[in-house]
Amino acid sequence: MSKKIAVLPGDGIGVEIVAEAVKLLEALQRDFGLKVELEQALVGGCAYDDSGSPLPESTLSLARAADAVLLGAVGGYQWESLPIAKRPEKGLLGLRSELGLFANLRPAILYPQLASASTLKPEIVSGLDMMIVRELTGGIYFGQPRGVRILDNGERQGFNTLVYSESEVRRIAHVAFDIAAKRNHRVCSVDKANVLECTEMWREVMIEEGKKRPDIELTHMYVDNASMQLVRNPKQFDVMVTTNMFGDILSDTAAMLTGSIGMLPSASLDANNKGMYEPIHGSAPDIAGKNIANPLATLLSVAMMLRYSLNEAAMADRIETAVVKVLDSGLRTADIAGAGCQVVGTRAMGDAVVAALA
Ligand code: IPM
Ligand code: MG
Repeated sequence: MSKKIAVLPGDGIGVEIVAEAVKLLEALQRDFGLKVELEQALVGGCAYDDSGSPLPESTLSLARAADAVLLGAVGGYQWESLPIAKRPEKGLLGLRSELGLFANLRPAILYPQLASASTLKPEIVSGLDMMIVRELTGGIYFGQPRGVRILDNGERQGFNTLVYSESEVRRIAHVAFDIAAKRNHRVCSVDKANVLECTEMWREVMIEEGKKRPDIELTHMYVDNASMQLVRNPKQFDVMVTTNMFGDILSDTAAMLTGSIGMLPSASLDANNKGMYEPIHGSAPDIAGKNIANPLATLLSVAMMLRYSLNEAAMADRIETAVVKVLDSGLRTADIAGAGCQVVGTRAMGDAVVAALA
């Protein structure tokens, strides 16, 4: 039976990079027997322009009905002055929370071919292969109350709420432990337990769950130290598990260790491994429409989708091998270009990966 993929290109470079992902999926259908149905819809700023909502009901129901969602990116300068509830980012956050996608997996893998593209010394980053597990539907991103109020003295006061219930911590702990069990069996939980009660509880719950998993070595780190350790000695980490906001910040740092944020895919999963797959970079409005964006993170997101949600591990391997072949051949988009490489555009990079599938 063919599986249904909701394809949501979104804004900015999302449109170009998702076009390459669609090209890849069509090639897998045509030449390798993959059975999927693709249906596109609007999300983010383009959806707001079209219908006044960054997450139209029709897009949400398509995403709910699909077996997996492929997303490009949302956001752009022209929507920055909208009220928060109408901003493109609300489309993305709405999808995450409406679909219950609480587990965000963000691998940071350095391809040996790109060691010189990192801003860190090659000996610090070469061989890097870590996984950040970010809690995605709780914490300060969603906590109530939130807003801006007027104090008695007339000045404005902004406020947000950092809140986690035990069950939210337990379920993300289980995801992290299960992933570590398939890797190097080490989990580092990142919190700010020395200052924030909420994350002090986070740590307590992690420890309780960790006791049930003797196969996993669980350690804890404060977030300020974790951010330092990521650039000091990133290879000490196997799996890092953390809150929504800390994970947002630390995963950008981890991404840059690998040379380019344009290389990294992500998966956001619900309790049944239904997922939304997206590159971890944003919509990059400054380079949108120029055919220079790196489509590899999106193509690798397709591989994650095939592996985690569509039960097509062999197809996923095929994509990942193709990407390695293309990097070996010296082809690079501008963001990862180095001496002796051939710089190509978005479409040519997509074509090269499709050609390398065989
Ligand atoms: C991310 C992004 C989003 C986030 C934005 C676009 C809402 O930065 O996926 O990391 O903060 O989660
Ligand atoms: Mg982010």
